[in-house]
Amino acid sequence: IMAEKGGYEHFMLKEIHEQPRAYRDTMLSRIGEGSETTLSEIQLTPERIKSIGSIHMVACGTAYHAALVGKAVIERLTRIPVEVDVASEYRYRQPVIKENTLVIAVSQSGETADTLAAMREAKLNGAQVLAITNVVGSSVAREADHVLFTWAGPEIAVASTKAYTSQLIAIYLLALHLSQTLNTTDALARAELIQGLKKLPEQVESMLEDTRQVQRIAQELSGVSDLFFIGRGLDQMVALEASLKLKEISYIHSEAYAAGELKHGSLALIEDGTPVIALATQEHLLEKTISNVKEVKARGGHVIAVALSGNMPIAGTADDVLYVPRTHALLTPALSVVPLQLLAYYTALAKGNDVDKPRNLAKSVTVE
Ligand code: G6P
Repeated sequence: IMAEKGGYEHFMLKEIHEQPRAYRDTMLSRIGEGSETTLSEIQLTPERIKSIGSIHMVACGTAYHAALVGKAVIERLTRIPVEVDVASEYRYRQPVIKENTLVIAVSQSGETADTLAAMREAKLNGAQVLAITNVVGSSVAREADHVLFTWAGPEIAVASTKAYTSQLIAIYLLALHLSQTLNTTDALARAELIQGLKKLPEQVESMLEDTRQVQRIAQELSGVSDLFFIGRGLDQMVALEASLKLKEISYIHSEAYAAGELKHGSLALIEDGTPVIALATQEHLLEKTISNVKEVKARGGHVIAVALSGNMPIAGTADDVLYVPRTHALLTPALSVVPLQLLAYYTALAKGNDVDKPRNLAKSVTVE
């Protein structure tokens, strides 16, 4: 068993450490020497791409959180309006699906019943379906019109880590590919993103070298009953994923909020010592995020920030800062989630939980 886990105590830890490799494999042969992307496996012709009127993304759980990042990135790069739905809700709200709607289904296993049902609804209404999945030959892969595989390799731990980050990489590549065809971004902007993408694997490696700070914070958190994650823009999407990760395996009640929304209600829950994890990697929003952190501090909250290295203003406000390497503003989710995956892992470990097989949950849910 230890050999299966590559010397790691749990599959989850092994899979967290496999992320640099998963990023590389998911990018491999899809990024050329220069700044172009080639997604030859998807058969969307330039004419098709130019005719896309809207994009709907459907997914569940962690894959849904990847899709939320996808909306932000695809809209920014292509200016095509994107809606994201939890797959179990999609069919029942009578979504406006047209022939020029592209429906993107995101699923690690490719077997999630809700996601399959949403895809079928889309096809029934004449939309093209593109799947982002990790399993070759899965139902989602077979039923989709186009498939973009994530090459994360088999994911065993119930709590998804490398599949999520590989989904992010696939989404970045897809957004670049669409924007290249549509000419909605200039070559320089695309080149910047691609340079940033290429650096990610090494940057993740550097974050995995020394995890002592995360382990110390996890020890502190293992005794709490509630905590909050806040963030603005893309940081909010990562907050949702980090919060889910922590809940799934540590069983600590946790909620994620848009940082600016906290004051409209949930701030009432902040007491002396309530831990709040504040993501602050979106530096164009930094001042606003810091003022939200101050609101929390003023009520006695204990703030752990996640920020890009060299961010001094946050260090002056938060109680602890987990630094991540600097990258392109759109790429921060692929880095900032890593210490938070580790935080969930070490918190669950400190509580003595069954990290790889959390209670009540299944790796893949094949019932609606
Ligand atoms: C289950 C798993 C989650 C996962 C979700 C969607 O609930 O426990 O970790 O995110 O299904 O799975 P999928 O395979 O479609 O990505």
